Parts: sequence; structure tokens; C-alpha cells
Amino acid sequence: MNTSMNRRGIAVVSGGSSGIGRAFVQRLHGLGYQVLFCGRDERKLRLVEQECPGARGFACDVADQESVLRFAEAVLREFPVVDLLVSNAGHLREIDFTRADLRAADLGEEIRVNLLGAVQLVAAFLPGLRGAARPAIVVISSGYALAPATRAPLYSAAKAGLHSFCKALRRQLAPTGMLVVEVLPPVVDTPSVAHREVAKMPPEQLVSQTLAAVDRRRTEVHPGAVRWLPLLLRLAPGLAERIVARS
Ligand SMILES: NC(=O)c1ccc[n+]([C@@H]2O[C@H](COP(=O)([O-])OP(=O)(O)OC[C@H]3O[C@@H](n4cnc5c(N)ncnc54)[C@H](OP(=O)(O)O)[C@@H]3O)[C@@H](O)[C@H]2O)c1
Repeated sequence: MNTSMNRRGIAVVSGGSSGIGRAFVQRLHGLGYQVLFCGRDERKLRLVEQECPGARGFACDVADQESVLRFAEAVLREFPVVDLLVSNAGHLREIDFTRADLRAADLGEEIRVNLLGAVQLVAAFLPGLRGAARPAIVVISSGYALAPATRAPLYSAAKAGLHSFCKALRRQLAPTGMLVVEVLPPVVDTPSVAHREVAKMPPEQLVSQTLAAVDRRRTEVHPGAVRWLPLLLRLAPGLAERIVARS
């Protein structure tokens, strides 16, 4: 992919109706890509379609395999070759295991959306990616993939699983020339973190950094404050874990 040449290609973005995913849809649309994106809320999909004429939104729940297969089938029927897949859909819940009773809580939800959702999306779109000249898969994980946040144990576990999946997937797909890029963002200014009063990276900056990494065929992107995390985890693992735990 060469983002600087304004080359047209086919891009698929999950969770493209808000936040980071919406910023990807807007940028890729601006670069001349035919963008196909998904989310669960039809109303939000139509709003992004209006912002980006020609981009197409599909109702799809990535946690539901049938729904993902229907999304992929609809896209691949019309666009059999996919150049870029951005697996972005996901969300964080704060879950407190000191609460008296969690037996009725849906404890699998974050694993199904953040981890299984990405896995199902990749599997469903691989046939389309195989036909591209320089196919790339971008997976939005989190800095919490490297060290967990105490307030979000299941989200952190799902993203750590995603990190491991990306590494193994990258090795499996290496002989095919397919690029697998994992992005581990810090806090990014999106509706999902509107309630948090901390420094936030603009989503457009995250998109620029990611697309530059795809162009340079880098495999992991550690934007903003997360750029120090791998080194700190090696030099002072206890300190690094404590900083992330409280974040
Ligand atoms: N914002 C941050 O600080 C931050 C930091 C690190 C990592 N991330 C990661 O970045 C990604 C995007 O986060 P964001 O902050 O941009 O969130 P956001 O503004 O809440 O947007 C999430 C998008 O994903 C879609 N989505 C959620 N669950 C879905 C499902 N089951 N199936 C299909 N689509 C679904 C949402 O649409 P519907 O609700 O209509 O389905 C929406 O389009 C997530 O994977 C998140 O974990 C975010």
C-alpha cells in the first residue's frame, strides 16, 4: 500500500462508525480507497456514509460469527480482492471482582468482541486479502496488551490474547507476503473515553502513524506514551506494571 500516491484500493474497517475506526474510514476514503466498514448501530453507519460519500456501512456484530461471515460474503461478492483490513471494533468495561456477586454478569463479552471478533474478521476476509498484490491486516489492540490495567481485567486479558494471536498469525502468513500490523494505542480521544480526564492522542494522529507503519512494513506500532512501554518492561518491569496498572 502506498498512502502517499493516493492509490485506490479496497479497505475494510470494523467498528468504522465511531472513534478510531471512523478516523480510519475518513482517511482511507480521502486517499481514494473504496471503504467498506461495519458496526452494530445502523444510524451511526448512515452518518459516516453521509460524511464519506461512496463508503458503505454494513450492520455486523463481530462477536457473532454468522454476522461476520454475512458481512464478508456481502463485501467479497462485489469486491473479491481486499487490500487492507483494519480490525478495530472493540470496547472496554471496568469490572470489579471485589463486587459481591458477578455470577449473573456476562463475563465473556469482552473476550468475544475484542479477541474472538478480530479472529473471526481476519478468518472471514483472508480469501479476499489473498488476492491482493500487497495485502495488509491492521489490528487495533491496546497498550494493555503488554501490561494489564487493574480496572479492566477482562479487556486487558482480551488484548493480551490479541497480541499473542497477531504474533502467531504474522508468522503463519509470512510466506504469503501478507503484512500483519498490531497497533497498541495509548488513550485516544474518542467517545469511549470521553469521561476520562487524561492526556489523549487525536485519532487522526493514530491513523497517520499506523498508515506510515504499513507503508514501511513495520509489524508493531507503539504510539504516544506506549512507545516507552516495551523498553520500560525490560528495564524496570515492576515499575512499568505499576504505572499501567493504575492508568
Ligand atoms: N480510545 C482509546 O483510548 C483506546 C485505547 C486503546 C485501544 N483502543 C481500541 O480501539 C478500538 C476502537 O475504540 P474507540 O475508542 O474508537 O471506540 P468507540 O468510539 O466506542 O468506537 C467503537 C466502534 O466499534 C463498534 N463496535 C463495538 N462493538 C462492536 C461489535 N461487537 N461489532 C461490531 N462493531 C462494534 C462501534 O459501533 P457500534 O457500537 O454501533 O457497534 C464503534 O463503531 C477498540 O478496539 C479499542 O479497544 C481504544
